[in-house]
Amino acid sequence: MLEIKGSVAVVTGGGGGIGLAIARYWVENGGKVVIADIAAEPLEKAAAELRELGGEVETVVCNVTDEDDCGKLADTAIEKFGAINLIAPFAGIIMDGLLLSTDKGLARSKRKWT
Ligand SMILES: NC(=O)c1ccc[n+]([C@@H]2O[C@H](COP(=O)([O-])OP(=O)(O)OC[C@H]3O[C@@H](n4cnc5c(N)ncnc54)[C@H](O)[C@@H]3O)[C@@H](O)[C@H]2O)c1
Repeated sequence: MLEIKGSVAVVTGGGGGIGLAIARYWVENGGKVVIADIAAEPLEKAAAELRELGGEVETVVCNVTDEDDCGKLADTAIEKFGAINLIAPFAGIIMDGLLLSTDKGLARSKRKWT
């Protein structure tokens, strides 16, 4: 089992919601985090909160649907902390808020299929 103390978590959607809650838990247990979010302002607020808890925190403004941004995120984690031990993918990119929708028609109608 992964020992959190000293381990590095990369958390997408880390500016709020589940991502921030996981990042909080991680630093409270001695882990280091790289939090990434598409929204810069909530991301910096989240980082300030995590640093208040004593956490070692790095931030990356990152759109997880952009491959270059994801590469930059991985590079930043390695450059800053030398490892990635956990990836917690909580960027809110699911449009209806559910991993599984029982209403295919509704879910599809909201999406832009390319
Ligand atoms: N809350 C729940 O009960 C629940 C249950 C199952 C699944 N989920 C899914 O888990 C994910 C997180 O849920 P949450 O409640 O924390 O949502 P949230 O909206 O509170 O937080 C999502 C975060 O992701 C960021 N984000 C949105 N698009 C992004 C992108 N393209 N790149 C990077 N960051 C982006 C937002 O700025 C926000 O800070 C969502 O995809 C949601 O659908 C949530």
